[in-house]
Amino acid sequence: MRPTVIAGNWKMYKTQAEARAFLDAFIPLVDPETCAERNPVLCVPFTSLGAVGQRLQGSTVHLGAQNIHWAENGAFTGEIAGPMLTEYAVRYVIVGHSERRQYFGETDETVNLRLKAAQRYGLTPILCVGETKRQRDQNETEQVISDQLARALIGVDQQQLVIAYEPIWAIGTGDTCEAQEANRVIGLIRSQLIQPATPIQYGGSVKPDNIDAIMAQPEIDGALVGGASLDAQGFARIVNYQAPSA
Ligand code: 13P
Repeated sequence: MRPTVIAGNWKMYKTQAEARAFLDAFIPLVDPETCAERNPVLCVPFTSLGAVGQRLQGSTVHLGAQNIHWAENGAFTGEIAGPMLTEYAVRYVIVGHSERRQYFGETDETVNLRLKAAQRYGLTPILCVGETKRQRDQNETEQVISDQLARALIGVDQQQLVIAYEPIWAIGTGDTCEAQEANRVIGLIRSQLIQPATPIQYGGSVKPDNIDAIMAQPEIDGALVGGASLDAQGFARIVNYQAPSA
């Protein structure tokens, strides 16, 4: 059976004080046994790694980051290195998010370097792939994603990896990709992997009111949640999604 991973991507939100307040509300709402099966992850800003990591000690909620550089250290202003993350017991790191690709010049080549660096430091990268609205309208979705995967995954261990299918037009828009369509694309992604057990998430306007339908899809192994992960009650409802009856 493939693992489930429900990750929250806080993006550039929450101070340390706000992060602590979130955890005070969130932790009592998620049951340790559910968490052991569903692997919730909080991918928080670097400045909150210490505060959140401390509060998650001994909990079954995992700590995640949102970027990693490929060098061990060096003159790379504004970047973060693997040893700086592992010091905080970070387990997961988002790599190649469309916001990094769109606004910060991330390419498939740098994504590949970052993925390999994450694995070198024992972290599980969450690789994001997805098409723009224009690419979808021009029937390029399959090709775009196939190219992103082929370039990103060179030399990457697929056993220590999570993939997130995040159609760019669905991010932060409330315009969720229809669950069956997300399931179809995720099936295509899986067909391109050599390791079929790699968990593949859906991301893009995941909310408490659509998570059950998303998780009912057979190919979808979890979610990467932006806006709705900022609210403790909402994210707890997402982690506590209603599993389809067997
Ligand atoms: P939203 O859930 O806010 O659409 O963001 C999705 C996302 O980008 C998660 O990485």
